[in-house]
Amino acid sequence: MRTNRLMTRKDADDLDLRSRIKLEMEVTDTEAERVAQQTLPTSWDLGQYARRAPWRARLFDFLSPLAGQTVLDLGCGYNPTPIYFALAGARMVYACDVSPKAAAYTKRLADQLGIADRVSVLVCAGEELPLADETMDIVHGESTLHHLRLPLAAAEIARVLKCGGKGGFKDPLGHNPVLEFARDYLPYPWKKPLKGTDRPLRFRDIEEFAKHFPRCMYCGFGLLSTMATFIWRRNDCRPVQLAHAVDGHLLRRFAFLGRYCRFVVTCVQKTGRRVEEGEPGSRSPKLKPRRGVYSVKR
Ligand SMILES: C[S@@+](CC[C@H](N)C(=O)[O-])C[C@H]1O[C@@H](n2cnc3c(N)ncnc32)[C@H](O)[C@@H]1O
Repeated sequence: MRTNRLMTRKDADDLDLRSRIKLEMEVTDTEAERVAQQTLPTSWDLGQYARRAPWRARLFDFLSPLAGQTVLDLGCGYNPTPIYFALAGARMVYACDVSPKAAAYTKRLADQLGIADRVSVLVCAGEELPLADETMDIVHGESTLHHLRLPLAAAEIARVLKCGGKGGFKDPLGHNPVLEFARDYLPYPWKKPLKGTDRPLRFRDIEEFAKHFPRCMYCGFGLLSTMATFIWRRNDCRPVQLAHAVDGHLLRRFAFLGRYCRFVVTCVQKTGRRVEEGEPGSRSPKLKPRRGVYSVKR
C-alpha cells in the first residue's frame, strides 16, 4: 500500500536532530510552488479564523488577547497565522520555521500588508530558538509539536516564555488506529504529498511536555466531526456543526473517548497561578478530567 512518508516512523525517530531538521526543511520547501497558487484569505480577522473550528476557538480562547503581546509562531509553514496575529495587534510576531521558502512566503505577505516592522521571520528549529530567555508572552504552534524532538522543544519554549506567558498548540492525536492508518495510507484531498518526521502525539508525550510548565491542560477534538468533515469538507455547514456539537456532548459525558479524537489542543502556562474567572483564558478547559479535559498541575 502506498504511503506519503519518506521513511518509516521508526527510521525518522532514529534520525539525529540535524538530519530531522534537513528532512523537514526539504519537505516544506517542496510545497512552495503549490502554495503560491492558493488564494489569500478575504478577511484577516483573527476571531473569524478562530471560529472556523472548535479546537481553534478553544486554542485562541486560551491565548487571547494578542494585542500588545510578543508572539512566537512555531513552525508556521505557509499558514499565514503570523499575519493574523500582527493584524490582531500583536506588538511583535516571530514567525519561525526550518523552511527558508516558508519563511520567505511569510515575509512577502508581511511586506504586502505593510506590517513587516511587526513580523520577524526566523529560519530556525523549535529545538534551538535564537531568542533570549523570557521574551515571549505567547508561543503558538499549529500542527508543529508533533514534528519536533519534544523534550528539547519543550525546554526551549519554557525558556523563551515570560513568567505568566502562555503556549497553545494543536496537533494530531495518535491513539486511534483507524485515523493512524488513514493518515499514513489512505488518499484524501487535503493530504500532504510528502511527510517527514512527524508522529501524531500520544497522551504520554504531552505528559512529558507538561513537565516543563507549572500548568498544562489538554483535550481532544474530533470524533463524529472527523467523518462529517471528511464528507462535507468544510466546517461551516449544518451537518458538520451538528457533529461538532455531538462530539462536545460525548466528550463531556465519556472522557475516555478523548484519546480516540483526531486532534489534541495543549495549553501550557509558565506560572503556577490559577487563571481567575474573567481573565483571558478563564473560559478555556475546566480542570475536570470527567469533562474530557485533562490537567497536569504542579
Ligand atoms: C504540518 S506543518 C504545519 C504548518 C503550519 N503551522 C500550518 O498550520 O499549516 C509543520 C511545520 O513545522 C515545520 N517544522 C518541522 N520541523 C520543525 C522544527 N524542528 N522546528 C521548527 N519548525 C519545524 C515544518 O517546516 C512545517 O512548516
